[in-house]
Amino acid sequence: QSNIRLGIFGFGCVGQGLYNVVQTIAQAGIEVAKICVKDREKPRTLPTSAFTYDPQELLQDTSINILAELISDADEAYHIVKQALLAGRTIVSANKKMLARHLPELITLQQNYGGTLLYEAAVGGSIPIIRTLESYYSAEPLTKVRGILNGSSNYILTKMEAESLSYSLALQQAQELGFAEAIPTLDVGGYDTVNKLSLIAAHGFGATVQPEDVLRFGINTVTEADLTIAQTINSRIRLVATAAVDEDNKLTLRVLPTFVTEADELYYVQNETNGVSIDPVFAGEQFLKGSGAGSFPTGSAVWADVSAAIAGYRYTYPKAAKKTVAINQESELFLY
Ligand code: HSE
Repeated sequence: QSNIRLGIFGFGCVGQGLYNVVQTIAQAGIEVAKICVKDREKPRTLPTSAFTYDPQELLQDTSINILAELISDADEAYHIVKQALLAGRTIVSANKKMLARHLPELITLQQNYGGTLLYEAAVGGSIPIIRTLESYYSAEPLTKVRGILNGSSNYILTKMEAESLSYSLALQQAQELGFAEAIPTLDVGGYDTVNKLSLIAAHGFGATVQPEDVLRFGINTVTEADLTIAQTINSRIRLVATAAVDEDNKLTLRVLPTFVTEADELYYVQNETNGVSIDPVFAGEQFLKGSGAGSFPTGSAVWADVSAAIAGYRYTYPKAAKKTVAINQESELFLY
């Protein structure tokens, strides 16, 4: 007899990943109640009865214990998550763009209405970075978090360097493999990485930032000449996201294509893999590496959230008591 009923919004790469993970694990006590999709005409791998086209059918159905928001449209995702939290529901999301934009309000909604929102899949694909920052390092200050957070950009850079693929062919492959966003400028323009870095800033440093606060250049600024220079100096180009605190407790956030040498772990992060180093003051550097995009790796992270939510886990934003103020155009913030 099932007692946990899961409602899924979206049946694209991530939605199908979650569905397949749930079916494969076939854990007693959990079932997919309904999947809400938009396009009635699109051929589906499941019978029509598995789907609804009305988000309210999931949002109003209180026999559904857990909701998973896995659609790509950030505005629609916001309305779904907001409505769920206003009703005190438990919802997990993978929509980094929506989360980065609306996080302060979504935190307040959880506090005011008692709902739960988890979003491990929004950052680093399969890498458990949010929970590591949120739970494990809740009480230890960090000096830096630095990494590769966009699988598509890394896939493109890898293919251009290792197989001399053209930029456009490598991007096309990233799209075909389901790594890229529906609007690939989000990936190659660095916006997706900025959104993920904003979430890292919240959990790792207690900093509330808007994506515009982050210095951003994407891989669409990388030229053939840059790749040749990288080879000449035994380096690779990687899209590196950095959140670093200096001795004055000033947090700088930036996303930049960067030359990395063989001495840098990020040199060995290839294809759609992501890699993140965390520098806690006392523990010393930790490095997490894993698949950053794709159906099963992302579905795995959503499943981890669903399982954690079932067990009653919530984010507490332990570092959020620190106030932050943006001070200039270089994305410098002070933590007080
Ligand atoms: N488009 C994203 C990426 C998907 O390439 O990393 C995972 O967040």
